[in-house]
Amino acid sequence: MKNVTRINKAVFPVAGLGTRFLPATKAQPKEMLPVVDKPLIQYAVEEAYGAGIRHMIFVTGRNKRAIEDHFDTAYELEHELEANGKMELLRLVRSLAPEDMFCSFVRQPRALGLGHAVLCAEPLVNDEPFAVLLADDLMCGASDGPSVLGQMVEQFSRTRTCILAVQEVPHDHVKRYGIVAGEKVGERLTRVTQMVEKPSPDQAPSRMGVAGRYILTPAVFDMIRNNPRGTGGEIQLTDGIARLMATEGVHAFEYHGRRYDCGSKQGFLEATVDFALKHPEVAADFRNYLRSVQL
Ligand code: G1P
Repeated sequence: MKNVTRINKAVFPVAGLGTRFLPATKAQPKEMLPVVDKPLIQYAVEEAYGAGIRHMIFVTGRNKRAIEDHFDTAYELEHELEANGKMELLRLVRSLAPEDMFCSFVRQPRALGLGHAVLCAEPLVNDEPFAVLLADDLMCGASDGPSVLGQMVEQFSRTRTCILAVQEVPHDHVKRYGIVAGEKVGERLTRVTQMVEKPSPDQAPSRMGVAGRYILTPAVFDMIRNNPRGTGGEIQLTDGIARLMATEGVHAFEYHGRRYDCGSKQGFLEATVDFALKHPEVAADFRNYLRSVQL
């Protein structure tokens, strides 16, 4: 692994079909669904940018053009806004593609699983540690504190191992997550000794579920490549990371903050309400509206 002092690259696997949100996702990427006024993918990119990352790598598939366009210059729109003196909106649109941010796009030709998606990014990541962000998981750091990925970058600077964001999940939800268990080595840090993808509740080694934020070392690529198909017949990222436990070591980090599972309707609605209540433009009226709702 190249001895870089910071995490420079983030991988966003965005090739998934989004079947849980049909019909909304029939002709548009699920990552473009907005929470209030920002698409999910933008929250994830801003989290990475805020954590010091400047190279964003999107692993895309068919029907995902909108994501590329979203982070590209929109000449006609910018021209119109400028001509009409809408400078505030012009600044907003331009802020999506800051000059020091670089985007790459690589296709995942077949839906073979999350591990396979990450492997598709290997030629762009090379031999550096990198972050993986699943945009479905909308993460909110503790108020006034660093973002969840920001907290993980800090942990990585000390451990130099893979760092997985984890949270305790209800017993009957463990089958939805990668589940880890191990030995506590710090207040919020665990050295992982067991890791299993979507176990049944009676076989799960704990209730610590992996949320969609990872910092990975490049050794994971070989581990994924040499893996047999795992849970659901897919090439699982979890299995690749699990094989690093014996060599480099893997740590799980209980982040400060909250995760919204925006891949589910319930999580998406909770995020919409909470973000609207914090949004400078709509918060006051929306709060009044909620007070008037008969429940
Ligand atoms: C993926 C991972 C799983 C992780 C989850 C977090 O599953 O495979 O280990 O816990 O993301 O959201 P998915 O939700 O894509 O099925």
